[in-house]
Amino acid sequence: MFPNTKLVLNVVLLAKSCKYSINFSQISCNFAQNFQKMKDYKRITITSALPYANGPVHIGHLAGVYVPADIYARYNRLKHRDVLFIGGSDEHGVPVTLKARKEGVTPQDIVDRYHKIIKESFEEFGISFDIYGRTSAEIHHKTAAEFFLSLYNKGEFVEKTSMQFYDEQEQQFLADRYIMGTCPKCGAEDAYGDQCEKCGSSLSPTELINPRSMISGNAPVMKETKHWYLPLDKYEEELRHWILEEHKEWKPNVYGQCKSWLDSGLFPRAVTRDLNWGVKVPLEEGKDKVLYVWFDAPIGYISNTKMLYPNDWEKWWKDKDTKLVHFIGKDNIVFHCIIFPSMLRHEGSYILPDNVPANEFLNLEGNKISTSRNWAVWLHEYLRDFEGKQDVLRYVLTANAPETKDNDFSWKDFQTKNNSELVAIMGNFINRAVVLTHKYFGGNVPQPAEDTDYEKEIRAEIARIKESLENNIENYKFREALKDAMAVSRLGNKYLADTEPWKLIKTDEARTRTILYYSLQLCALSATLAEPFLPFTSAKLFKMLNFERPDWESTTKVDLIPVGHKIGEAELLFERIEDAAIDAQLQRLENIKIENEKNNYKPQPVKENVAFDDFMKVDIRVGTVLECFKVPKADKLLQFKIDDGMGGRTIVSGIAKYYTEPEKLVGTQVCFIANFEPRKLKGVVSEGMILSAEDADGRLVLLLPKDLVKCGVRVG
Ligand code: 2FM
Ligand code: ZN
Repeated sequence: MFPNTKLVLNVVLLAKSCKYSINFSQISCNFAQNFQKMKDYKRITITSALPYANGPVHIGHLAGVYVPADIYARYNRLKHRDVLFIGGSDEHGVPVTLKARKEGVTPQDIVDRYHKIIKESFEEFGISFDIYGRTSAEIHHKTAAEFFLSLYNKGEFVEKTSMQFYDEQEQQFLADRYIMGTCPKCGAEDAYGDQCEKCGSSLSPTELINPRSMISGNAPVMKETKHWYLPLDKYEEELRHWILEEHKEWKPNVYGQCKSWLDSGLFPRAVTRDLNWGVKVPLEEGKDKVLYVWFDAPIGYISNTKMLYPNDWEKWWKDKDTKLVHFIGKDNIVFHCIIFPSMLRHEGSYILPDNVPANEFLNLEGNKISTSRNWAVWLHEYLRDFEGKQDVLRYVLTANAPETKDNDFSWKDFQTKNNSELVAIMGNFINRAVVLTHKYFGGNVPQPAEDTDYEKEIRAEIARIKESLENNIENYKFREALKDAMAVSRLGNKYLADTEPWKLIKTDEARTRTILYYSLQLCALSATLAEPFLPFTSAKLFKMLNFERPDWESTTKVDLIPVGHKIGEAELLFERIEDAAIDAQLQRLENIKIENEKNNYKPQPVKENVAFDDFMKVDIRVGTVLECFKVPKADKLLQFKIDDGMGGRTIVSGIAKYYTEPEKLVGTQVCFIANFEPRKLKGVVSEGMILSAEDADGRLVLLLPKDLVKCGVRVG
């Protein structure tokens, strides 16, 4: 559909015969390079991560998932493509049951409450789902159970038994979150089986000192339990090929995370849990168990489709001419790129995603957004505090979208983007064009006189802007696409400033007619191209122009509103946001900080700055694993022999739990701190520290260089 050639732009166009010098490169037309060619599909299934229904949604969810997904859905609809945009609540999982227990209500009560809040706030915010379903719905339970059975009957699952904590009094197994005890790291007495909230350490329940059941308060016992596992290790090679060879075009953050998972080796994943809230395992021997929430949640996309199109759902999921795109945050990459595609492929009748344009995280005022610490801007509260300003938030979150790295949301920046961009650029241009048309031509679109080079260049520039915008959206570059949409108003402002029709009207009425004719066309263009990003503003603007939205494809021809058409009165498109409104939000966050401090919660800083010289003191290097094995009598420790380019060294690392076949790491390159004080661990002297990072599941994964490098080279 689009040419794959590099588009050389950044044009500086100098109008020859006119007195104005037009530097369009300042207006900005952002052509990214090496665009992916879009295959011709018949339809597009767009999914957006189903938010957990145990709390409202916040700006991090919006920036990461729902705003980009909505832009993509709206754009594709404008392109006359057959679109299905799916949303819904993810209503299972342990946190829902914990919240219900804490409040003394049922899990269903909890999800009913939040499903309603989330659904209504999405609607008010203009997220244009075709359906917003929920996973506690009967059709979802049926669909997920059938999906499980289909894999089961094909013999895909591996059955395994393991030992798990059990509450004898309550006669039930305990999920990690249902076990409390003393943190082995900081001594806090109320650490959970998966994490200590006091010191932030990830834990496993067996690490807790004096573990106790949160239900009865008794010490739990270990008991054998059986579960069904998806053998990801068996699928590793096909996944490697599908992702690393066939999807090199995926965003670097997504591709990189998948590669790192694949390079660390995949392991079978349990898809069932000992819990009574969720989709029941449809087997006699699993009658007290449910499907793991991460197994049933993505099937929610399918069950929601069935809910919307009971007789015609399959084409959205099974026809190879359907393009499937998952919008998610980075913590969901493994589930949507590795686990769910494995489920779909091995079920046998489904298509796989064409792309998974996951975003990184949005921080708030320099600190990580945290639901439990209330460090967030909640959508339903924003809608209450900034009534009618949906598009301001949509604009700011798109302009700051964490597309390639984590980004920050600050209230001051929100105010600046509103006042200096929406008000000063878009609002100002449109207001001037409409007001001047009323003043000089009674609100009627004037008949233009002959075009000068300026108007010819405007036509050419519009075509470029539109092409750039389309290319950017097709390639999931929404920040750049938004700049393109804004370029229309920038162009209009420059046109008015260069030509000054308010002066010309006294001497050259014909030229003034041309300028206002073109300005009004730019207003209509701006309203059309802004629709995916700023749908409320776009609708308001068309109302002001008293004009129906033109067909998207017709926007390249510029002449949209006919001569003589009567436009409506000027209305304010955006209003300034004053300091008081911003200060109120900052004060709210300040109060939350104080509250958290009282509760001993420290905000989680993204990380404090360190001086360059301090960083350089740490000697990080790359080495190749020569040997790797478990340290005898130490559950957690692996002993590495590393080729460090300096004669070799031994390093002991506490990652045994995550690498159960350590011999497979031989030959892998790792990053390690070479000048760490040597220390003895279980009798072995460790000369350094191997670097790893925690993934979304709290599992430590090794940090590997992307390409092979020489042993001993420095990192930095
Ligand atoms: O991370 C989350 O918020 C999950 N509830 C996302 C689920 S996405 C899909 F699998 F439904
Ligand atoms: Zn702790």
